[in-house]
Amino acid sequence: MLRKARDWVVFILVYVPLLSSQSMRVDAESHEWWQHAVFYEIYPRSFADSNGDGIGDLKGITSKLDYLKALGVDAIWITPCFPSPQVDFGYDVSDYENIDPMYGTLADFSDLEKEARKHGIRIILDFVVNHTSDQHKWFIDSRSSRAAPRRNWYIWRDGKETGEPPNNWVSIFGGSAWTWDSSTKQFYYHYFYPQQPDLNWRNPAVHDAMMDVSRWWYKRGVAGFRLDAVETLFEDPQLHDNPVLPGFNSFGDPKEEDKYNTKLPEVHEVLRDLRRVADESGAVLIGETWTNDVAELKQYYGEHSNELQMPMDLMFTKLQFSAASFREHIAVVDASGGWPVYVISNHDIVRSYNRYGDGQHNEAIAKILASLYLTLRGTPIMYYGEELGMENNDPVRKEDVKDPIGRLGWPKEKGRDGERTPMQWNDGPNGGFTAGTPWLPVPASYKTHNVESELKDPSSILNVYRRVLSLRHTNRALRDGNYMGLNQSDPNVLSYLRTYKNQAVLVVLNMSAQPQQVSFDLAPQGFTSQSAHTLMTTMTQKAGEAALTQMALEPFAVYIGSISR
Ligand code: GLC
Ligand code: CA
Repeated sequence: MLRKARDWVVFILVYVPLLSSQSMRVDAESHEWWQHAVFYEIYPRSFADSNGDGIGDLKGITSKLDYLKALGVDAIWITPCFPSPQVDFGYDVSDYENIDPMYGTLADFSDLEKEARKHGIRIILDFVVNHTSDQHKWFIDSRSSRAAPRRNWYIWRDGKETGEPPNNWVSIFGGSAWTWDSSTKQFYYHYFYPQQPDLNWRNPAVHDAMMDVSRWWYKRGVAGFRLDAVETLFEDPQLHDNPVLPGFNSFGDPKEEDKYNTKLPEVHEVLRDLRRVADESGAVLIGETWTNDVAELKQYYGEHSNELQMPMDLMFTKLQFSAASFREHIAVVDASGGWPVYVISNHDIVRSYNRYGDGQHNEAIAKILASLYLTLRGTPIMYYGEELGMENNDPVRKEDVKDPIGRLGWPKEKGRDGERTPMQWNDGPNGGFTAGTPWLPVPASYKTHNVESELKDPSSILNVYRRVLSLRHTNRALRDGNYMGLNQSDPNVLSYLRTYKNQAVLVVLNMSAQPQQVSFDLAPQGFTSQSAHTLMTTMTQKAGEAALTQMALEPFAVYIGSISR
């Protein structure tokens, strides 16, 4: 009797919490929360400024949670908001366990986390794992003497006898990847700026300290991390020279194949360890994964799905705007076995509005892109302002450039300021971003492309995003359905079916400037209906039903409709 009672207690204490925490995370289709979530990247300097200093902040983000919720966002990824000298605008972290005063305090972070939770929005932070700031206390100690306790936390090497750096590796941000330290008479290694020294991940103390950083934030309610620059965690210990390629990059350095200082196999060991820690808290890991092909992307999930849950498909940002190139890429990604993570813009690349726009049909093209990547099987990550059709606003004079890459590489490389400009909230001064002087100028398009004005216009880019996101959250086929490409040889129109049991959603995108005629026979897929029920279309004629055998599409039109068996 006593034993039975004890068993019950054990069952209640151990298994019941396990079962309920599991069921919170996984639905009947075995999907986890992040598979249904829509992620939204916020560049905190540029989102909303609460105190008029021209720089966005955490309180600003908190004040916009209603907007994000209504848009259909379930998780925000905030790019680094930790203390930093801001050489690389936060990607040079001088303290991993605090908030930079320009963005607020830890208390502001807790408020944001609590408010976000009330809105059903999770918070993802950016973990800069490859390097710290040269002002981090670890590096200050490391460079203080060769015998310093943290000397071996970074990569220090003697130069060649000639006084040259240890090898030919160049920094992706220009110049040699090695900087001479005149007081300790050795070089330290940095894949990025000299103010971003690479951590020595072969040192177990570094490894453990970084695992602890991730735990520290999980305890504060963070739902996961976007892992910055994971490819560069390890370097060849023998420091072999990289193969030199013909030509020079925009900084004037010889082009190289980064054979010995990127994508070393050891990266995957670290990802597995970070994942083990993440799993203790049910957290998600997103990777900044610049891969060359889908096979390489697949490796980041881990052989036993024990690395990144969400390696970003950044190849998606490089596709030509054509039905064929998207069709082909999506088919391979979808069939690869990993859960796809689609991205069309971020803070390092030209905004999608400019990249895909043809100068004449930019609005319609932005709506096509939205309707495409938000209706695929997989998780989308949006970039703030993309939902408005925000444009790049590149500096025109070298003296206006803020991003050091642009100052160094001018005029070939203008830097990344253009895609990092303030969010456009209304048509008032500075687009409603700040009452002061914004740190970067707001593009002229804010007069028409801003939240307030676009909310009033039913056909705005913003309202297309809102409608598609709402469908994505409510329509079972779009949430959980399979992906099936249709009309595979059509050079102009990309179309596909998402199917879930007896329901399907048909997505038809005319990616050409000419009207097109399409016809679908879905009998092989088990759908004999001759028409679709319109869920969303950008066409002027908004028929309730559309005939599948003769569908006329306006130039750059979107049609989304549901079909049942
Ligand atoms: C990543 C970030 C980029 C940063 C770099 C160095 O690529 O996205 O903005 O400059 O890492 O941390
Ligand atoms: Ca501010």
